[in-house]
Amino acid sequence: MKNATITLHINGEEYKLEVAVNRTLLEVLRDQLGMTETKYGCGTGECGACTVLVDDRAINSCLALAATMDGKRITTAAGFAHFGELNHIQQAFNDEAAIQCGYCTPGMIVKTASLLAKNPDPTEHEIRHALEGNICRCTGYEKIVKAVQKAARTAPGRAVKADTACQEVAQ
Ligand code: FES
Ligand code: FES
Repeated sequence: MKNATITLHINGEEYKLEVAVNRTLLEVLRDQLGMTETKYGCGTGECGACTVLVDDRAINSCLALAATMDGKRITTAAGFAHFGELNHIQQAFNDEAAIQCGYCTPGMIVKTASLLAKNPDPTEHEIRHALEGNICRCTGYEKIVKAVQKAARTAPGRAVKADTACQEVAQ
């Protein structure tokens, strides 16, 4: 099998890698780099457990060949934590108990990040629509939706805007 040499920027770190041209991004993340936070569920683009951001766009990493990702910026669910601190999305999933087995959670968190980047104040319908490709077999989705709503309310930019609004009202 032919190999390709690629450079990936994953969670802020640069990796130069030799990958077999038939290996998926998911296989390279998990098996070659040990980044097991990105989960293997179906392997066929059905469950969303393997979702990562590629240059800020959420994709199913089980469907993408790693060799086509040369130079791309990849963010996995672990990439949202800073110095061991959970970010607001991870914290919201924790706070709302939106995790049972946790298998779907990394994909849900990545998909939530991509939703809130485009739409910081989604309706419940928009949240459910955005998460359609992410299957959870444990939680019944109610807590997940609440977690996304909380993540939207607690996003750092939102807090600043709220403070500014309060100051404007006070003046
Ligand atoms: S493992 Fe990729 S969508 Fe299920
Ligand atoms: S928490 Fe188990 S699959 Fe979602």
